[in-house]
Amino acid sequence: MLIIKNSRVIDPKSGCDAVMDIVIEEGTITGVGPDLASAYADKSGVQVIDASGLVTAPGLIDVHVHFRDPGFTYKEDIQSGAQAAAAGGFTTVICMANTRPAVDNVETLKYVLEEGKKTPIHVFTAANITMGMKGETLTDMEALKAHGALGFTDDGIPLKDAALVQKAMEEAVRLNVPLSFHEEDPALIANNGINRGAVSEALGIGGSPAAAEDVLVARDCMLAVHTGAVIDIQHISSGRSVRMVKLAKQLGANVMAEVTPHHFTLDETAVLKHGTLAKMNPPLRTAADREEILKGLKEGVIDIIATDHAPHSAEEKAKPITEAPSGIIGLETALALGVTSLVRPGHLTLVQLMEKMSLNPAILYHLEDTKGWIGKGADADLVLFDPDKAWTVERFQSKSSNSPFVGETLFGKVKYTICQGKIVWKD
Ligand code: DOR
Ligand code: ZN
Repeated sequence: MLIIKNSRVIDPKSGCDAVMDIVIEEGTITGVGPDLASAYADKSGVQVIDASGLVTAPGLIDVHVHFRDPGFTYKEDIQSGAQAAAAGGFTTVICMANTRPAVDNVETLKYVLEEGKKTPIHVFTAANITMGMKGETLTDMEALKAHGALGFTDDGIPLKDAALVQKAMEEAVRLNVPLSFHEEDPALIANNGINRGAVSEALGIGGSPAAAEDVLVARDCMLAVHTGAVIDIQHISSGRSVRMVKLAKQLGANVMAEVTPHHFTLDETAVLKHGTLAKMNPPLRTAADREEILKGLKEGVIDIIATDHAPHSAEEKAKPITEAPSGIIGLETALALGVTSLVRPGHLTLVQLMEKMSLNPAILYHLEDTKGWIGKGADADLVLFDPDKAWTVERFQSKSSNSPFVGETLFGKVKYTICQGKIVWKD
């Protein structure tokens, strides 16, 4: 038995924000309430964490991570990725399927899930929408779902064919699974990873315009209205796309949108400071886009915060800006960026932040019966953190360190991550 005593319990499901004790038995929460700990004080076999001054929230759930395994394990593997997740307060992750081989077949899917079971956290995966991520032929979504794929995506490679997207949505409705979309029309992009505008001009490159994102978000939102599919707009970065998602919700689309901590914290000018460490797809956009993102988070248009944890080696990121791969790591800084960029400036409450980092991700992937909330009967997946603790980003559990936040001082430090009632990370 494990008791977490005297922490500020944040439960996004009930809206609770109060100092309480939490009792955990055999991986499940069996009690939450004030002063529960005293009843167990002299029992043997009871471990007590005195968490006075700490927040306890549901274990964070990241619906968008790249663990690079199989195929690119010099960047990350499932073990190191899970370690980075635990250090960041995440107890559940959904891996993206742009591995090599890609997760377009049952054998690779089984490999990822089996490796995931060897880690201390819950590692799930999405499978591909199309074979080889070529955007031409749908995978056997039914078989992949039957073998444990929680959803489908070709993340990294946008889908160009609207008819195929519609077909995938119809299949997703039949199978009751979510589809996640990387929205950037390559026809409109000159260079990936840098917003088209003042910064791309300063660098003398064509960049990637917000229009490339907006047109695909519009297409897929409208297809979602027409098919009834549950869709997730991944890593939203354009202000107009945020407004499009708002409209689509009003029109009855079953759409959720994800935003990354870097898109709500930084804008395109970060590229001038951090170079390739601020290059990602879709790119950091303008200050005005960031304002729309903050508004979307506040209004509930953006439901999910997801890291798009995208490890790359130092050698790869040392290449010139037009050649270096897109993406940055995010698992170990996400919570602190949420606290620093959203909660401390008053954009979101801690309850709202946790809704977007645990409850809503759980709902998207049908995990909400036992995950994403704190209460009797919930899985004992928890994060304990000090919301006021300032710390400087230096070292990572991830194999990679491609982050523009290295050297930054952030607020909010993970102290314990507990998964299935076991301490899987302690600061
Ligand atoms: O910047 C990105 N990197 N965006 C993606 O969608 C894919 C990711 C990757 O796999 O590196
Ligand atoms: Zn993506």
